[in-house]
Amino acid sequence: MASGLRPILIAMQTRTDPLSYLSTELNNLRQQGLHRSLRILDAKQEAKTTFDHHSVVNLSSNNYLGLTTHPKLVAAALKATETYGVGSGSVRTIAGTMEIHMELERRLAAFKKTESVVVFQSGFAANAGTVAAILTKDDAIISDELNHASIIDGARLSKATIKVFPHKNVDAARKILQELPREQRKLLITDGVFSMDGDLGALPELCALAEEFGCVMMVDDAHASGVFGANGRGTVDHFKMHGRVDIQVGTLSKAIGALGGYVAGSHDLIDFLYHRARPFLFSTSHPPAVTATCIAALDILEHEPHIIDKLWDNTRFFKKGLEDLGFNTGLSESPITPVIAGEGARAMKLSDRLFEEGVFAQGIAFPTVARDKARVRTIVTATHTHDQLQFALDKFKKVGHELGLI
Ligand SMILES: Cc1ncc(COP(=O)(O)O)c(C=O)c1O
Repeated sequence: MASGLRPILIAMQTRTDPLSYLSTELNNLRQQGLHRSLRILDAKQEAKTTFDHHSVVNLSSNNYLGLTTHPKLVAAALKATETYGVGSGSVRTIAGTMEIHMELERRLAAFKKTESVVVFQSGFAANAGTVAAILTKDDAIISDELNHASIIDGARLSKATIKVFPHKNVDAARKILQELPREQRKLLITDGVFSMDGDLGALPELCALAEEFGCVMMVDDAHASGVFGANGRGTVDHFKMHGRVDIQVGTLSKAIGALGGYVAGSHDLIDFLYHRARPFLFSTSHPPAVTATCIAALDILEHEPHIIDKLWDNTRFFKKGLEDLGFNTGLSESPITPVIAGEGARAMKLSDRLFEEGVFAQGIAFPTVARDKARVRTIVTATHTHDQLQFALDKFKKVGHELGLI
């Protein structure tokens, strides 16, 4: 044995593992039936594909419009790679801003009908980076209880006072605002579409409240971009709230089919984020292929909106099918339809049995959703065929009966 290895081996034998508490936590998850292995996608992210070597109708991706594999987006990515290489080589504020990054921001601003846009590496970074940048410990954030984790993390990072109102309860939000000092700076924030329930945020009512109490109004439209509003402009367009929402976040990772997030708003907001949003300042910008892909996706939203009509046609078909079978699908208003099963282990069983039958619908349990509201979450896309969706409904019927859910 090389002499240098001996002390390392001795240290490994005598040292107790300081991370052993994690093994205990994992064993607890196993005992509760909540431990999950990652499903491995063996092929393309498509409506019918192969996970874990098993052919399935895929109801688990956020690929709403099927753009992950769209030939025009693939061609744009290849061309950008050939022209600019595979990486940007730097953060945006040093050497990592290419003309193509600026073009995407201009295109998104025009699409969202706002003065300006900044693109982040992900939707998570856009939310967390923005909330943390614009608030200080003296400010308050008033947030729907089901808002996305990235908003919660941004709020924690900002050290602002965090006030949470029950889901979509505008009266409760008003009460919170009445109790806060009038002169305190306040951010009122909601998801546009709630990612686990598929319902829409109370945007018009919250905009009115923000105006009454002088709050900054922010919406996270991650699941609405490419889905709601004319050409997929999001919930601000859907509810005709243009000019009344100060900060709109969108993702490029879901309906747009690639990766990234963005903030749309005034020139000053975006300029401020260029200077103060930490993910923008301290993390490398997108590879050119990602950026070119997103520009190509915007072309599709603008010129081929029928693809969004197809998404909604499929959504109505599948949602009605689940409802007719008697499942509890909550209050969904979007292509996200939960099938609520109750406790965590039951939802995981439903998901596992569906998978065996050829349908991939991910089980979701606490802490992502409330303990008694575990579910499988389904998302249809524009590229599912009615036959594929009917196949999935037949399997839901079979397994739902088996588990006593219907
Ligand atoms: C509501 C919501 N906001 C933000 C995000 C983060 O987006 P991204 O996946 O682009 O980081 C997600 C994704 O899970 C989401 O569901």
